[in-house]
Amino acid sequence: METVVSGIRPTGKLHLGNYFGALRNFISMQNEHNCYFFIADYHSLTTHPTPTDLYGNVRQILVEYLAAGLDPDKSTLYIQSDVPEVAELYLFLNMNAYIGELERCTSFKDKIRQQPQNVNAGLLTYPTLMAADILIHRATKVPVGKDQEQHLEMTRQFSNRFNRMYKVNYFPEPQAFNFGNELVKIPGLNGSGKMGKSEGEGNAIYLADEPEAIRKKVMKAVTDSGPTEPNQTKPEAIQNIFQLMKVVSATETLNFFEEQYNTCQIRYGDMKKQLAQDMIVFTEPFREKIKAISADETYISKVARMGKEKAQENANKTIREVREIIGFKKF
Ligand code: TRP
Repeated sequence: METVVSGIRPTGKLHLGNYFGALRNFISMQNEHNCYFFIADYHSLTTHPTPTDLYGNVRQILVEYLAAGLDPDKSTLYIQSDVPEVAELYLFLNMNAYIGELERCTSFKDKIRQQPQNVNAGLLTYPTLMAADILIHRATKVPVGKDQEQHLEMTRQFSNRFNRMYKVNYFPEPQAFNFGNELVKIPGLNGSGKMGKSEGEGNAIYLADEPEAIRKKVMKAVTDSGPTEPNQTKPEAIQNIFQLMKVVSATETLNFFEEQYNTCQIRYGDMKKQLAQDMIVFTEPFREKIKAISADETYISKVARMGKEKAQENANKTIREVREIIGFKKF
């Protein structure tokens, strides 16, 4: 059994890309491993220092995690800021993190380009905070996508460095949790890239979306003027619509439209209507559970409290041991 940690920044509602990308795997992982899933609200301050609705965003993710099937009795579901031990470990790790390596981090370079007016120290030390999230539970596995691999590599660097500096074998070397083929890439609706990656309303289908919203977004999805030759290679935008259909529709439906495309008879309007309908059916159970859980304040508080307790128990032990290793003593 592995100890698994994963965090998500509370930047908005969960979409189909989140579901097929990671969430579905989290749900199966919780039966086999000791899992800690948290909402990274400290991290969100690196980009939004004065958030408009931090509480609402955190609450939404918590509700949607539960609605999607994360079970608070099987895994530890918590909010990062409920475990301030993470901030203390972050402080310790920062003492042994070097400016040079932090500045070289790709995500930092991207961020300073995106927000040149706010290149704060939190942005620079984002990888140290992420390392603290992982090492606070002495996790061995971290289910992350490609974009987080460098951060995980830095976590290993910090972990090894800590062990070396204090001559201990305390922190493990966390590895990426490999999903193999199960990781399905979900494209967005505006013709290119992953769902949720590009800005602009209409690119993503959210688990909480109402049928009418889904229909509108799918009908507006980018297509082209249609194939002119039989068995033509599909351009990206068209490939994307087919990929979406592949994950939510029945195989016969997909095959039907493939055939229509290959024989140049396809009517994208019809295909989109069908895709929207299948997405509505697919998301219905999520939509219903999100509504029910969202209305149950008592349950949400109970889950948050339980997660905080379980996470803190473990985090507290790590901090006590780390203090001792470094040399802090009680007077
Ligand atoms: N950086 C991650 C992301 O943007 C979120 C995150 C924060 C995380 N702390 C983590 C992921 C710890 C895994 C483990 O997606």
